[in-house]
Amino acid sequence: MQDQLDILTRAVNEWMPAERPVSQAPSAAELERILDVSLGKEGADQQSLEEALKAYLHYNPAVYKSDFHKLLYSGQNKPALLGDWITSLSNATMHTYQVGPVPTLMELELIRQWNALVGFDRDGNQPEGVMVAGGSQANLIGMMLARHHACPDYKTRGAGGRTLVAYVSDQAHYSGQKAANVLGIGTDNLVAVASDDTGRICPVALQREIDSSLAKGHVPFYIGITAGTTVTGAFDSVADCSRIARQHGIWLHIDGAWGAPVLFSEEHRHLLADSHLADSFAWDAHKMMNVPLTAAVILVKQPGALKSCCSGGGGEYLFHADENADYNLGERSIQCGRRADSLKVWLSWKAMGNQGFAAKIDDLQALKTTCVNLIEDSESLEMLAPAAYVNVLFRYHPAQLTDEDELRQLNIAICKQMMNNGGPYVDYAQYKGRYGIRLILANDEVSETQLSSLLALCEQTGREMLELHRQVVNG
Ligand SMILES: Cc1ncc(COP(=O)(O)O)c(C=O)c1O
Repeated sequence: MQDQLDILTRAVNEWMPAERPVSQAPSAAELERILDVSLGKEGADQQSLEEALKAYLHYNPAVYKSDFHKLLYSGQNKPALLGDWITSLSNATMHTYQVGPVPTLMELELIRQWNALVGFDRDGNQPEGVMVAGGSQANLIGMMLARHHACPDYKTRGAGGRTLVAYVSDQAHYSGQKAANVLGIGTDNLVAVASDDTGRICPVALQREIDSSLAKGHVPFYIGITAGTTVTGAFDSVADCSRIARQHGIWLHIDGAWGAPVLFSEEHRHLLADSHLADSFAWDAHKMMNVPLTAAVILVKQPGALKSCCSGGGGEYLFHADENADYNLGERSIQCGRRADSLKVWLSWKAMGNQGFAAKIDDLQALKTTCVNLIEDSESLEMLAPAAYVNVLFRYHPAQLTDEDELRQLNIAICKQMMNNGGPYVDYAQYKGRYGIRLILANDEVSETQLSSLLALCEQTGREMLELHRQVVNG
C-alpha cells in the first residue's frame, strides 16, 4: 500500500500544479496517437502505471483551478476529496445496513438536513430520500414517482393503452427526455412548455398545454420545474406551478440539481420560495457544493413512496428481516450495489457547516453582481439573459456587427481561442436563438481582478479575431 500512497502524494504535490494551463488536451485523434492506453496479456510494471496516471492528470482539464468556468463546479473541496478516498478504502455498499453501517446513518442524516432545507418536514411530516448517481437519475426517479402516483399499476402492468404526459420548460435539462425514454412515457409525450423573457416557465402556457392534453384524453402526470436552469440559472416559480399541479392532481418535481444550495443562504433562499409545496426534489452535491462526482439525492415528501415505487426482488437473499431492516436503503433505490456517496458529502458539510455553504453562495452572488456590472458598463459586451444565479451568459458585440450568425461564430471562436491559449476556460451556449459565452461562477476563490481580466480578454480576443477576418477578406 505504501507504493500507492507514494504515488498519490506525488500526484497531489507534483502532477497538479497551480501554474499549468487550465486545458491542455489535444484532439481525441492526436491523443490516441501519442498516448498508449492498450491493455495486454502481460501485467505492467509500477513505472508504467505511474506514467499512465501522470498522463491522465496532465490531459484532464484542471477543474481545480479558479479559471475553470466551463462546468457547474470548479475548485477543490478538500474534506469531500478526503471522504472520497476513504470511501474507496472502505468499499462499502449501500443496499443494506450490514455492509455500510456508518454511511447509512450519514446518508439518513444528510436526507434529514436536505429535507429540512427544502421544507418537506413541515407540520411534523417525515419525508424521505435516497442518494442517487447524479441529477439525471434524481429527475428520473422524480418522474417515476409521479408515474407511480398517477398509475400505481403501471409498475406491474405497463402502459395498458394510456398516454401519460409530462411537462417541463423549454429551458429544462435534457435529463427529462432521458427519463421519458427510460420510463416508457415516450419523448413525444414530454412537453417543452414555453419560458418567458426571464427564462422561467410560463404558467399560462403550462395550463394551456395541460388543457390540450386533457382534451385528447391523455393523462397529465408530471410537472418538472427547475431551480437554476443549466444555461442561464433561472428559477421557475414554485407557487404558480404548484397551484396548477394541485388543481389537476399532478405530481410536482423540482430539479434543484444546480440551484438548490441557495436554500443555505438567508439572503438568496427567496429564489426557491415555496419549495415545500413540491412532491419531490433533486439536489446535486457534486455541482455547487463541489463534492467529487457523483453525489446527489432525490428527496420525497410522502413517506414510503420510494419503496412502493422502486422496490422489487432481493428478499430471498439480500433484504433479511432482521433488527436493522428499517435501515436498509436498497429497497428505496433502483440500484443494487451503490457507492457510499454519503461520507464525502457528510464530511464536507461537517467541516463547513450550513454557514460555510451559505457564505459560498453569498460570496458568489456578490461576485456575479460585480461581473454583470462590468459587462453592462462595457461598450462591446452585452448580457443575453438575466443572471438570477451565478450563470453569466453574455457576448462580445461590437457596434459594427449586426448579423446574428456572424455574432454566433465570433463568440464561439472567442471561447475556443481562449481555451487553446491556455485559459480561462469558458463555454458557449444558446439561449432563445442567440449564442453567447456562458461563464459559471462556482469557485469562490475567483477574485474581482481575475474576472475583470477575463472580460477584458474576451474583448481583446474578439477584436483580434475581427481584425484577422478583415485582413483575410481584404486580401
Ligand atoms: C438543471 C440540471 N439538472 C440536472 C442536471 C443533470 O445532473 P447530472 O449531471 O448530475 O446528471 C444538470 C446538469 O448539468 C442540470 O444543470
